[in-house]
Amino acid sequence: MDRSPVDLSLLPRTAQARSDGTAVGGVDLVQAATEFGTPLFVYDFEQMAENFAEAVDVFGPGVAYATKAFLCKAVAKLAYQQGMSLDVSTAGEYHVARAAGVPSSKLVVHGNNKSDAEVERAVSEGVQWLVLDSFDDIDRVIAATVRAGKSCPVLVRVNPGVEVHTHRFTATGNRKSKFGFPLWTGDASAAVERVSKNPRLEFKGLHIHVGSLVFAIDNYISALDSVLDFVRAVDPEVFVVGGGLGVRYLRGDDAPSFADWADAILRHCKDAGVRARILAEPGRSMVAAAAVTLYTVGSIAKKGAKTYLAVDGGMSDNPRPLLYGSGYEAFLPRAPLAARDAVVTVVGRHCESGDTLVEDATLPSSVAIGDVISTPVTGAYGYSMASNYNLLTRPAIVWAAAGEARVIVRRETHDDLLRCDVG
Ligand SMILES: Cc1ncc(COP(=O)(O)O)c(C=O)c1O
Repeated sequence: MDRSPVDLSLLPRTAQARSDGTAVGGVDLVQAATEFGTPLFVYDFEQMAENFAEAVDVFGPGVAYATKAFLCKAVAKLAYQQGMSLDVSTAGEYHVARAAGVPSSKLVVHGNNKSDAEVERAVSEGVQWLVLDSFDDIDRVIAATVRAGKSCPVLVRVNPGVEVHTHRFTATGNRKSKFGFPLWTGDASAAVERVSKNPRLEFKGLHIHVGSLVFAIDNYISALDSVLDFVRAVDPEVFVVGGGLGVRYLRGDDAPSFADWADAILRHCKDAGVRARILAEPGRSMVAAAAVTLYTVGSIAKKGAKTYLAVDGGMSDNPRPLLYGSGYEAFLPRAPLAARDAVVTVVGRHCESGDTLVEDATLPSSVAIGDVISTPVTGAYGYSMASNYNLLTRPAIVWAAAGEARVIVRRETHDDLLRCDVG
């Protein structure tokens, strides 16, 4: 078991650790917890801004931030200001992006079951493109373009039917996936043919997305290899390689940098003679490592062989451990450089035995009730997957920059829990 102090490289880029405190964006984490309450997400503004800018630098305009990883108005605005398009997969994500002032021409519309209303809005407002996922989807989009008297730029999502090394719930390009047109059955080819023949559909290109939290660049290369003959044959204007780049959650994890990942993909496509412009849709790699979650310790209880340290959040602000068995580290922001000589299981406060945030976490043995503890790398698929289970209110989100913390999403109140309850 690793009892050394937390690996500071897991903390946001602007983090500063002293023997008596930890700051992100110049904001002391314990002070932030006192001022804004817990659970609290603290995002490193600078890190996200740099990540978005890097994605645009590497892939060029049209590269889209996958908003399912984390979306609120401030983040939508930041991604857009840094030059990114936004990938949205529901009317809700579309609505928030538009409310943030992102023009429809910078939206990429996904979804394996888009509603008529979703398609109509995308067609009438004029999006960057809509990503077609099934023959029903093609029919629905054609019908919407006819009703609107407009045409619509589209991509065809191809399922290459490959396995990648990730959790089976986050693999999206294998032969059991619900997403895209299977390449191996001829459906992808039939979809391209149908789309190309329809004057209302502006065929722009092909799309793949093979999974999320994929660490091995080799997995991408073999996924590309399985589809490159098809891409060369179709010779589209753009080829979108999806997102999915893994990030480090634990000291022992090893993830390629965004630059290395992008470089390997771009080089491989070029070497293979692909003439299309290559674009991507990164989500997790843009935001995961930019945030930490802060919790207050409410109970430390030895029960049998285990010591349970219970915090004031849990599966409602981070369902990933329960959904995917994901691992996290924990640290004590008031003493980030101290050895973590106590082994505890960090649990939430939900009425659910699976409500464990960190199994066998190490923390300094001085940790006590009332302390603020933190889990790093919670910026992706945490708040965006948050729920009100047990009617807990969802946490606030602050972003920290230049010594100031700004609330970008306020904490829910108990009245918010009654907002939709019309009795
Ligand atoms: C179509 C599509 N694009 C992009 C992404 C973003 O993936 P990630 O957050 O792993 O980069 C996803 C996530 O599953 C996706 O389904």
